[in-house]
Amino acid sequence: MQALKAVDVSMAYSKGALKREVLKDFSLEIEQGSFTALMGPSGSGKSTFLHLAAGLLVPDKGEIFVGGENVAAMSDSQASRFRRRHVGVVFQAYNLIESLTVAENIALPAKLDHQKVSCERVDSLLSAFALSGRGNDRPDELSGGERQRVAVARALYMKPSLLLADEPTGNLDAKSARSLSDVFKGLNSRENTAILLVTHDPVVAAVADKVCFLSEGRIVSSHNTEHDAKRVSELYLEAFGQ
Ligand SMILES: Nc1ncnc2c1ncn2[C@@H]1O[C@H](COP(=O)(O)OP(=O)(O)OP(=O)(O)O)[C@@H](O)[C@H]1O
Ligand SMILES: [Mg+2]
Repeated sequence: MQALKAVDVSMAYSKGALKREVLKDFSLEIEQGSFTALMGPSGSGKSTFLHLAAGLLVPDKGEIFVGGENVAAMSDSQASRFRRRHVGVVFQAYNLIESLTVAENIALPAKLDHQKVSCERVDSLLSAFALSGRGNDRPDELSGGERQRVAVARALYMKPSLLLADEPTGNLDAKSARSLSDVFKGLNSRENTAILLVTHDPVVAAVADKVCFLSEGRIVSSHNTEHDAKRVSELYLEAFGQ
């Protein structure tokens, strides 16, 4: 069984009579425990797909299986419970809750799920993300990179089998981007979490094992990255000529 399987997914945004088709018969399979980067030009539908995979949007057509469950057929409340328990999500904006401390933000999925918060889990995540001693700080006391690490720690709190990350390094300098990508890699190999990571940065994409290119609504090609940023960059140029 795949960690994520999208089959013939189509999705359009409508505004009045205007219809903007974003995904068209889009299919993608993410093996359990694998690490895949998703790249494509701005506006090609990468974020839209992650929202669909997280059950935050419902496709017009098609099926999206996460761990064998069809999230596209779930009600809103089923989807949010399923997401909390099985899927970690990190979006372009960090979405931290400013009134909660760092530790409370990280443990939020447990709170929302009416589960007892594990201080040990919070502490181990704080230390894994080099945030030891920052648990009682508020988000506005953190740098951009630190906030982003809190967002990733929160996404991992419940030990999801799938992590969806949308340009998690987009606002970071090259060094912080590199170190966050290494955290993803470590997580992928240690906890066997399947990762689908959207990025515009070939250096970040090269940390993944595989890269898929999205254009005009569907995946146009997939390649092994060979952990070589130059290769990813050349493949991107070949696919998109830009
Ligand atoms: N809520 C919305 N309503 C209408 N159109 C939308 C909405 N969200 C996205 N779109 C449009 O859908 C298309 C795909 O958007 P999406 O955010 O998925 O692109 P993306 O590949 O993530 O781009 P980027 O690399 O810039 O983040 C774009 O043309 C965008 O303008
Ligand atoms: Mg996007």
